[in-house]
Amino acid sequence: MIQQQQVDAVLILSMQRFDKKNALNLQMYRELSAALQSAAANPAIKVVQLQGNEHCFSSGNDLKDFLSAGELNRQHPVVEFLYTVAAFPKPLVAAVAGLAIGIGTTVLLHCDLVYAAPDCRFQLPFTQLGLCPEAASSLLLPQIAGYQRAAQYLLLGEAFSSEQAAAFGLVNEIVPAAQLLAHAASKAQALAALPAQAVLVSKALLKANSKQTEHAIATELAEFQQLLQSDSCQQRLQAFFSRK
Ligand code: COA
Repeated sequence: MIQQQQVDAVLILSMQRFDKKNALNLQMYRELSAALQSAAANPAIKVVQLQGNEHCFSSGNDLKDFLSAGELNRQHPVVEFLYTVAAFPKPLVAAVAGLAIGIGTTVLLHCDLVYAAPDCRFQLPFTQLGLCPEAASSLLLPQIAGYQRAAQYLLLGEAFSSEQAAAFGLVNEIVPAAQLLAHAASKAQALAALPAQAVLVSKALLKANSKQTEHAIATELAEFQQLLQSDSCQQRLQAFFSRK
């Protein structure tokens, strides 16, 4: 479900579960973590590009898995992915089209360059599901967007557009959908052509607050775990699957 393609020194990871709008299940998290860990250790890979296709990025965590999540410990595939993507040392370029919901948006907070099609729907509907922020979004979104806007998106769970995301700085550039993947790929190639050590050191400097990020991930997960077991969350998850 995660297609891997190497183009020169760029590894392209494509989420491919389009019948479920690229909802991320445990297998996909495992594959993403393994691909990132192997890319981090492989000197032939200098940049990773994360994408869906030109119509859909991701509808977020598979809500079925939230119904029976078990303990969110360090071995849990979601938790493993969060720490892996947050600590990924090489540049991460994202190409986002259509839906970017839940982790579909919060993963972008860990990407270095984000390109988006004009029609995206970004949304963090955690409270609407009886849940709380994850992936250090409670720390990183206010830093990028300012407190009130982060509260609008994380407390109310209101959706926001590509234009809004570009205006507050989550998205670098809006690109027509037909050119999105190629445009992101050209930026990934441009990064890969730069002196590798200079890029690595620069990213590490930009991420100097990574301890705080790890702390936020852990703090959020403890709360998330509690809320996940609450009646209001479980009822809202059931309501999603019985909506049709
Ligand atoms: N988890 C599990 N399945 C999901 C999913 C998710 N996050 N998002 C979509 N799907 C599934 C749907 O259940 C449906 O499956 P089915 O065809 O077997 O019934 C299929 O993907 C297509 O989704 P559908 O809802 O029919 O498409 P839509 O265009 O009408 O709506 C969404 C798309 C994304 C708005 C809607 O599916 C949705 O709200 N999904 C949940 C998003 C979410 O809350 N993510 C987690 C945030 S923490």
